[in-house]
Amino acid sequence: MQTAKRLEGIGEYYFSQKLREIEALRKDGKNIINLGIGSPDLPPHEEVIRVLQEESAKPNVHAYQGYKGVPMLRNAMASWYERWYGVDLDPETEILPLIGSKEGIMHICMTYVNEGDPVWVPNPGYPTYRSAAKLAGASLMEYDLHEENHWFPDFERLGKIMKVSNHGSVSGRMRNLFFVNYPHMPTGQLPTKKFFEELVAFAKKYDLLIVHDNPYSFILNEAPLSLLSIDGAKDVAVELNSLSKSQNMAGWRVGLMVGAKERVDDVLRFKSNMDSGMFLPIQLAAAKALNLPKSWYDELNNIYRLRREKVFDLLRKLNCQFNKDQAGLFIWAKIPSGYVDGFDLSDQLLHQANVFITPGGIFGPAGNQYIRVSLCSSEEKLEESVGKISAFQNNQKHHHV
Ligand SMILES: Cc1ncc(COP(=O)(O)O)c(C=O)c1O
Repeated sequence: MQTAKRLEGIGEYYFSQKLREIEALRKDGKNIINLGIGSPDLPPHEEVIRVLQEESAKPNVHAYQGYKGVPMLRNAMASWYERWYGVDLDPETEILPLIGSKEGIMHICMTYVNEGDPVWVPNPGYPTYRSAAKLAGASLMEYDLHEENHWFPDFERLGKIMKVSNHGSVSGRMRNLFFVNYPHMPTGQLPTKKFFEELVAFAKKYDLLIVHDNPYSFILNEAPLSLLSIDGAKDVAVELNSLSKSQNMAGWRVGLMVGAKERVDDVLRFKSNMDSGMFLPIQLAAAKALNLPKSWYDELNNIYRLRREKVFDLLRKLNCQFNKDQAGLFIWAKIPSGYVDGFDLSDQLLHQANVFITPGGIFGPAGNQYIRVSLCSSEEKLEESVGKISAFQNNQKHHHV
């Protein structure tokens, strides 16, 4: 049986493949530490789990749910946006609960992209933007991000390209999608208000619909920022958010899209044909999670801050260069000369030191000379990784003598 044309050029997700390789090495008796993936290892707040337990024990919570989620969840999402981002949203019309931000990326592409439409994605960037756009039939337009420009898009350069491709004149057609994500994964770059203002102005000028993916704003960052807090942003942008990272609920699959009523209605038209709502006890527990006090985020960040120090140690051992002010669940670092690229360093570490670190190239060619280390392992595991890398380096020295 032949797979559909739309799967051409779409490989299995990198981590799905890599996890199989790691599993095989473990079966051979190797003790591999995986510092690759950004899945929080800590549990959600105990009150959140209590709500799930109590609610799921009730007899009347097991039916299909509405496509837009229950009011209690949407109200909690609206309060969360108001409290932390200072953004006012109508819980009835401007919020769409999602089964994670990842599904929102696909739904938005399926809602707006016609065959051959340009979709702009960051390089380096979260691989799902690229694959979702391709699956929807888009003509992929990658925009490069560079360390010298603080990993922000070069608007001047992009403006010239957009003028040439002349897609700015849209007569009645949908605007082109432009994916953005700050705090940026994988580089950890924080947004600034000024940058967001420029982005909104750029979207207006070139008639883009900005899709801002914002799952990391609470991690190692004291001032969460939403693109929708910028004047006029709702006219040109939607924002995706998630409970995966900030509430330690990655496996629960709860996210949200926020934006103008028209955008929420558009995406719901597609989504309501794909799934049949979210398990009610999960929605109620998620509402609880969104109401957690500041101390929840502070405690979480204290743990990540201590882990980050260990990751800095590890990166110093590898002679990598890195910026210490990164937000999110990872540290992004430039590899030293002596390796072909991040894949080379990653492979050597996996097979010779039993430590897996993500090569930056999986986020696009602009990440080739970088690696990304996850903070989702305990301090002990991180220390153990440093030890394994030291042992490997000592071994290498002896071989060279
Ligand atoms: C930038 C970015 N967006 C979205 C996601 C997916 O989030 P969710 O669990 O809400 O689908 C991730 C997860 O790794 C991510 O790094």
